[in-house]
Amino acid sequence: MRIERITSPQRQENDPPFASVRPRNLRDFIGQTSIKEKLEIYIAAAKERGEPLDHVLLHGPPGLGKTTLAHIITAQLGVEIKTSSGPALERPGDLAAILTNLRPGDVFFIDEVHRLRRNVEEILYPALEDFKIDVILGEGPNAQSLRIDLPPFTLISATTRTGLLSSPLRNRFEVIFYLDFYQPAELEAILLQAGRTLGIEVTPEGARELAARARGTPRIAIRLLKRARDYAQIKGNGVVDHVAAQKSLRMLEIDEQGLDNLDRQILTTIITKFNCGPVGLETIAAALSEEKETISEVYEPYLLKQGFLQRTLQGRIATDHAVRHLGLR
Ligand SMILES: Nc1ncnc2c1ncn2[C@@H]1O[C@H](COP(=O)(O)OP(=O)(O)OP(=O)(O)O)[C@@H](O)[C@H]1O
Ligand SMILES: [Mg+2]
Repeated sequence: MRIERITSPQRQENDPPFASVRPRNLRDFIGQTSIKEKLEIYIAAAKERGEPLDHVLLHGPPGLGKTTLAHIITAQLGVEIKTSSGPALERPGDLAAILTNLRPGDVFFIDEVHRLRRNVEEILYPALEDFKIDVILGEGPNAQSLRIDLPPFTLISATTRTGLLSSPLRNRFEVIFYLDFYQPAELEAILLQAGRTLGIEVTPEGARELAARARGTPRIAIRLLKRARDYAQIKGNGVVDHVAAQKSLRMLEIDEQGLDNLDRQILTTIITKFNCGPVGLETIAAALSEEKETISEVYEPYLLKQGFLQRTLQGRIATDHAVRHLGLR
């Protein structure tokens, strides 16, 4: 990405360390009610039977709590978690080493599972289905296949790009949850909770103001809270109240709808240069010197969700809502 945007949902280096603000059990995990309801039951049932939880796939836009949920599930199961990611598992042997070292019932978490290599993924199929792997020893005509039994385990995987998963892999997850953007009231509650854990004094009005502009995303909400705390500390009385929140957001050039400069540039480009569209993603990306994946994965989901943008077969269209919001008519 060109710049580290404050409103980017992707993790950045100076976001609070994972453990510091992360809720540790389902009760403290705010929102995503129907997912929590099901998880409570599935976890309790698996524990009662003394079996591992069925394999879980968590998908949805960045910053909505997939990694957090994986850790919470592990804690509620009372087991250990081993973590890795699609790109980190370079060779089948990397995967085999982790799987053979799990203890019965453990959770293996693979982040960015859509980036698993095909030859690694193929080892995973029998591991998921039968808790067995086949390893090849030696090379050429002397190569031998050896079947190894694994301890029963739970795979939890996360992805922002579920469309890129192969169907054999997707089919091996018995539990699939889609995490959707949060409601402002939920983000408000998340902010009050984060304020308590981070030792930031924040009023309900301050939290409401930040929540309204956090693009439905807890990670962004928490980041905005930290910037508002800085503002309140230097320019106010240290408390993130309504005024401090508003002024800090104004300084960050984040508008009432949570759009930042780049969002506004995307919409303005479509509206003024391409007569509201339809215009192809590549053309927009070129006009803004951005990568097209960044635009489609990071910026567009929220613009689509808020009705500023439409995706059609012919290209992107900026809606009337966008034109009015930007005061371009
Ligand atoms: N429901 C929630 N309640 C409280 N805090 C939350 C919730 N969801 C997410 N968070 C907080 O938001 C931040 C981002 O969450 P997390 O890292 O789990 O997102 P993610 O979906 O894994 O993102 P990515 O796709 O980038 O990996 C964390 O600091 C987490 O503690
Ligand atoms: Mg994550």
